[in-house]
Amino acid sequence: MSKMSVLKKRMIALAAVAGITGAVGLAVGTANSQMAPFGGDEDVAYSQQLWSALTDAKLVGDGRIRTVAYEGTEPHGFVLETLYGQVTIGEHTGTVIVKQNYGPEGLTPEQVNNDAGKKPAAVTVMFFREAGYDDDNKNIFWAKFLGDGSLDKNPKGMQLAGKIAKGMDAGCIACHSGADGGDYEFLRNM
Ligand code: HEC
Repeated sequence: MSKMSVLKKRMIALAAVAGITGAVGLAVGTANSQMAPFGGDEDVAYSQQLWSALTDAKLVGDGRIRTVAYEGTEPHGFVLETLYGQVTIGEHTGTVIVKQNYGPEGLTPEQVNNDAGKKPAAVTVMFFREAGYDDDNKNIFWAKFLGDGSLDKNPKGMQLAGKIAKGMDAGCIACHSGADGGDYEFLRNM
């Protein structure tokens, strides 16, 4: 066999393997988005309703109420502002906590406080939903938006809205479940 044809065969074999893993990857991806506790179609639709209610309540967007910016802690960003409010989605009115996350590194709270038009890099939200939504975790709907209201994604490409990441060792629920008093809130316990 010539060197050339061996190479060709290897390339075909490689392509076949790549094809198989591609198909498996796709199947796993589909299963994930159907079974995952967050990032599904319903979560995304609900997050859009939430963003629009937050905009009306002046808790996000260019017309948002500004409050004092403070130095952030990991993983939330370098400078933060946190607002508490109430919004109604469908039949349910609940408390919402909205955190504006500003960067980049090196930014100071003074710079954010003095910049009336400052846009956040991300907006993280906890919305206390109706009983039965997620009774094990205080019925909180979690979301991480980018400054423009689109949803941020995790490294696997899953949109960050819903029960993030229920049952897993890391993520919103895992970390916030360690807050004092078991209420998933850090700031009001500090
Ligand atoms: C590794 C731990 C950790 C993870 C993961 C985490 N947070 Fe937080 N979060 C904190 C800490 C600590 C605070 C309080 C300090 C601050 O303001 O950053 C906080 C504060 C908040 C607050 C203000 C209310 C409060 O608890 O006092 C919101 C809203 C929030 N986080 C949303 C989220 C969302 C949404 C996610 C997931 C996309 C998330 N967090 C992931 C640690 C975490």
